[in-house]
Amino acid sequence: MTAAGTAPEGTAPLVDLRGLGKVYPTRTGDVTALTGVDLQIADGEFVAVVGPSGCGKTTLLKILAGLEQHTAGHGTLHGTDLGRPSGDAGMVFQKATLLPWLDVLANVLLPVTLDHRATAADREKALGLLRMVGLEDFATKRPGELSGGMQQRVAICRALVHDPSLLLMDEPFGALDAMTRDALNVEVNRVWRETHKTAVLITHSIPEAVFLAERVVVMSPRPGRVVDEVAIPFGTVRTPDLMGTPEFGALSARIRRHFEVKAA
Ligand SMILES: Nc1ncnc2c1ncn2[C@@H]1O[C@H](COP(=O)(O)OP(=O)(O)OP(=O)(O)O)[C@@H](O)[C@H]1O
Ligand SMILES: [Mg+2]
Repeated sequence: MTAAGTAPEGTAPLVDLRGLGKVYPTRTGDVTALTGVDLQIADGEFVAVVGPSGCGKTTLLKILAGLEQHTAGHGTLHGTDLGRPSGDAGMVFQKATLLPWLDVLANVLLPVTLDHRATAADREKALGLLRMVGLEDFATKRPGELSGGMQQRVAICRALVHDPSLLLMDEPFGALDAMTRDALNVEVNRVWRETHKTAVLITHSIPEAVFLAERVVVMSPRPGRVVDEVAIPFGTVRTPDLMGTPEFGALSARIRRHFEVKAA
């Protein structure tokens, strides 16, 4: 197990957060979403973040994506200060948020086309990503013609098309049924291995976190901070039979203990 707030030794962290805090000013007063978050994430690592609703998980991802600014502490991505959209992170949200009037290929290419007209190489890259998630035959379909799970696969391709260092996923499969979710988790594991991305996954599912991550970060209730980190020593290739092993159960139980409601 690693100590709270530390990345594996001997690797320069891709993400380095020191005492990070976030206060939202609101009409009814300040809301402290995050406080004293210390977290390092190594290049290529897969980290899952679990924590109670409202503890600041989405806020943390938005700060990593440069969509929100932290209000205390210090944070870097690739050694560059966080605080403005870097383009070095791709984000997958709980809902796929695809544009219904564009076909699948155009949706995947969207981050590219916001910057420049898509080149043949861009289209090849997007088609390669669709092939990786088994959707090469759906490139000309509209999002409305796809299932929810297929739409989330498209959203993952969209997040990867501009080749960011960081793949950020915020409860990407929360709205899907359990079987689809399990199948997509196997796919996310493969995508992570094939693309060599650094991945941060927020999930309310402890088994999903243990199945996918190399390290599970546990956050406290709001204001969120890191209260535990659990190393998941199952190697990089994860298959569904892993979930039936005693080791998987023991790691899940250790994480679950943080969320047990104490009997009165
Ligand atoms: N734009 C905002 N303005 C004001 N307060 C906000 C804003 N975004 C989030 N908050 C507050 O910050 C806290 C953390 O919100 P956040 O969405 O990061 O939590 P979360 O851990 O992702 O929750 P959930 O698990 O329910 O998605 C909450 O109290 C929320 O009300
Ligand atoms: Mg959230």
